[in-house]
Amino acid sequence: MNIWESLKKPFLILAPMEGVTDIVFRQVIASAGRPDLFYTEFTNVSSYASEKGRANALERLETAPTDSPIIAQIWGKNPEHFSETTQALESLGFSGIDLNFGCPDKHVNKAGGGAAMIKTPELAVECFRNAVKSTNLPVSIKTRLGWSNVEEYKTWLPTLLAEHPAALTVHLRTKKEMSKVPAHYELISEIIKLRNEISPETKLIINGDIKNRRHALELHEQYPEVDGFMIGRGVFENPYCFTTHEPTKDELIKLLKMHLDLYEEYEKTHSHIPYEALKHFFKIYINNFPGAKDFRAKLMETHFVSEARELIENL
Ligand SMILES: Cc1cc2nc3c(=O)[nH]c(=O)nc-3n(C[C@H](O)[C@H](O)[C@H](O)COP(=O)(O)O)c2cc1C
Repeated sequence: MNIWESLKKPFLILAPMEGVTDIVFRQVIASAGRPDLFYTEFTNVSSYASEKGRANALERLETAPTDSPIIAQIWGKNPEHFSETTQALESLGFSGIDLNFGCPDKHVNKAGGGAAMIKTPELAVECFRNAVKSTNLPVSIKTRLGWSNVEEYKTWLPTLLAEHPAALTVHLRTKKEMSKVPAHYELISEIIKLRNEISPETKLIINGDIKNRRHALELHEQYPEVDGFMIGRGVFENPYCFTTHEPTKDELIKLLKMHLDLYEEYEKTHSHIPYEALKHFFKIYINNFPGAKDFRAKLMETHFVSEARELIENL
């Protein structure tokens, strides 16, 4: 059954976040309190289509038994590479494919992908159609309101909706706004109207500044026609954000230990993720309890998992 049809409204999604929502962190979130749906970090279709890049692309697309159901997110600008990648992904156990038309990263945009697609709508449509033609999996889109002007949503979103994607996630900001201004909740009603008029079967997912389950449920009361809500940086404030549970210090430390264990396990068989990269996660777990700041400062000085573990044991 099509995943989008089987999710109960309002469903909650863990946002794809490059360098954050990898296979390790997704397992940690699944253990804290799972969302209804996961996404992979985005993977470049031209990397997948090249002999040199394929192994790495496949590694990024690995999933664990606990992070299902999961959607594979891809980006790029070459329509043939969208076909090739989408076709290959069908046999890898994903519930769907999502096209990233919203990333504001300057390298991605320079390569013509992510939010740069907003400036080349015909190419975006061609890539979407190629993806749809190459798979039986549902194909969805994640995007922003526009490139530099909020009003662009009035033409950009109808262009996408006319293709009848299985789902459309709208991060309620333009590329130019990055994440520097509050998400434009005032436009939700207008976006619902567009979806209802042009493609009522497309699931509408709202993204931007949603902190946790409670917040999503409040928004759903206000906007019952929105199908799902996607949470990104909310996990940094509370890894239990998909539940209404306020974690204790012990629970957070248990999650950190789990993260370290899974990282170590992953490192044995995969290309190297530097220990330094793990440090971005410490604030998620070592936060909001007396002495957290000092303890985190000590953890930041460690160089190995074993050192971090020793500090934790002596806490
Ligand atoms: C570190 C980081 C990495 C991100 N990587 C991706 C990505 O790979 N694909 C994507 O569609 N969006 C990516 N995003 C955007 C998020 O999915 C989300 O749209 C954005 O953070 C707004 O939601 P939030 O306010 O709930 O965080 C990233 C955001 C952050 C903070």
